[in-house]
Amino acid sequence: MTILECTGLSRLYGTGEEQVKALNGISLSLEQGSFTAITGPSGSGKSTLLHVLGGLDRPTVGKVLFREKDLYRLSDNQLSILRRRQFGFVFQSYNLVRELTGLENILLPLMLDKRAPDDAYLNKLMDILGIRQRLDHLPSAMSGGQQQRFAIARALANKPEILFADEPTGNLDGQTGRMVIDLLRELNRELGVTLVLVTHDLGVAEQAERIVHLTDGKIARDSGGANR
Ligand SMILES: Nc1ncnc2c1ncn2[C@@H]1O[C@H](COP(=O)(O)OP(=O)(O)OP(=O)(O)O)[C@@H](O)[C@H]1O
Ligand SMILES: [Mg+2]
Repeated sequence: MTILECTGLSRLYGTGEEQVKALNGISLSLEQGSFTAITGPSGSGKSTLLHVLGGLDRPTVGKVLFREKDLYRLSDNQLSILRRRQFGFVFQSYNLVRELTGLENILLPLMLDKRAPDDAYLNKLMDILGIRQRLDHLPSAMSGGQQQRFAIARALANKPEILFADEPTGNLDGQTGRMVIDLLRELNRELGVTLVLVTHDLGVAEQAERIVHLTDGKIARDSGGANR
């Protein structure tokens, strides 16, 4: 069953001579429970595609359907509720809230929804990510790798249906990076979380069922679920 689908996506930035076509006619259909890696050179449109698919950046042309619901025809409020309940997003630049501690950052999406956390699940996440000792720290007192781990925990706290992750292992050492990918694969297998992961790392991309390779805002190659 298709969970997320986009057709004819283009995203232009700027105007006139300065105009950049970050995405140029992308159509893609993702199966529920699948694990897809998006690869491509710097500037090829990976982050832009992830933001547009995740309901964070309106495409100039084209549409995105989540369970047949047209994301960008929802009201801003409906879209932010959908994102908070059904999507998880790990940003390339983490985007933790600077005024909140690590733990408060993780719990924020649940609190906004007045939902009780699943303590056993959160404890397991925090153990795997190795962030228990930093729960009371502000992001400014954390290294890049630590902020990355909190950003991953925050994105997973609501048990999202789809996790969008932009270079989630980019700032982690090799061993932690592998543990994070193992955790994501386990969530994919056990909870059926659909994963869409942007990565430069071929070793990480190889873990996915499907590899979509972008160049110049277009799909240059798509293994179409045959990367296994
Ligand atoms: N907010 C913006 N304003 C103007 N141009 C932008 C903006 N965001 C992205 N671009 C441009 O769109 C193109 C695609 O950028 P994008 O960030 O999606 O690439 P990427 O594949 O994620 O690169 P990287 O691997 O370096 O993260 C680039 O040419 C970039 O300069
Ligand atoms: Mg990027």
